[in-house]
Amino acid sequence: MGFLEGKVAVVTGAGSGMGKATATVLAREGALVVACDISGAQEQTVAELGGQAVAAGCDISDEAQVSAVIDLAVEKFGRLDAMLNVAGIGAGGPIETLEAGDLQRMLDVNLKGMFFGAKHAVRAMKETGGGAIVNWSSLAGLIPSPNSGAYAISKAGVVMMTRQFAVEAGKYKIRSNAICPGVILTEGMGIAAAKAHPERATGNPLGRAGLPEEAGELAAFLVSDRAAYINGVLIPLDGGWSCMLA
Ligand SMILES: NC(=O)c1ccc[n+]([C@@H]2O[C@H](COP(=O)([O-])OP(=O)(O)OC[C@H]3O[C@@H](n4cnc5c(N)ncnc54)[C@H](O)[C@@H]3O)[C@@H](O)[C@H]2O)c1
Repeated sequence: MGFLEGKVAVVTGAGSGMGKATATVLAREGALVVACDISGAQEQTVAELGGQAVAAGCDISDEAQVSAVIDLAVEKFGRLDAMLNVAGIGAGGPIETLEAGDLQRMLDVNLKGMFFGAKHAVRAMKETGGGAIVNWSSLAGLIPSPNSGAYAISKAGVVMMTRQFAVEAGKYKIRSNAICPGVILTEGMGIAAAKAHPERATGNPLGRAGLPEEAGELAAFLVSDRAAYINGVLIPLDGGWSCMLA
């Protein structure tokens, strides 16, 4: 029996990268998973998971769509125990030429999208005695680096949002924690980033980039009862890179 047997989870960004890997680890450990994405690739994820996983199309920047996905989890499986806010977008460029529309889109998806996920997860989790939220921030949300302005600002917002939910939702036995990846080899962002900046991918004490599955394993632990007293923490998943930058 897996250590998430009977738990119900919603995973955003489940069509690719860390979202797909997280959905896979959660299902392996017995969780019932609603896999969402904007791309359509969540259907393939669910086909690969088999079992009772369900796919849902969702643009996380639209609150009504996020709310509907939470309702789907409750309708289908009776409750919600774990909200994995993985979906995000990346873009680089100097801040002095950043267009308002590009900043807005970054904040809409990376910050507001995760906020909607956490907000509606709390609504559902309150009804059944608690749960756990995991938000994907980034090392960029903790430490600034050249040309990552809009992305870094959105991910720093996720850091404070995570801590704010930890404080406000703790009374409902809902925990809120964040994963702050360094460079993880994912189809969408990580492999491209590793190619563009190989020194970022390997310039950490372990000398290699991370794997999507390694994020999935951490997330599975964080939403499990094994992490029952962990609330409001930000965990770098970076092979120790942030120790060198500090
Ligand atoms: N890969 C890395 O090195 C790295 C590093 C730090 C942080 N992160 C963060 O980790 C998370 C996962 O990244 P990844 O590398 O697995 O990315 P990825 O591009 O492989 O997957 C992201 C998924 O999110 C989906 N998505 C994008 N916009 C969406 C929207 N509006 N609504 C719903 N789904 C949407 C995409 O379709 C895609 O399937 C992101 O939040 C990213 O910012 C990644």
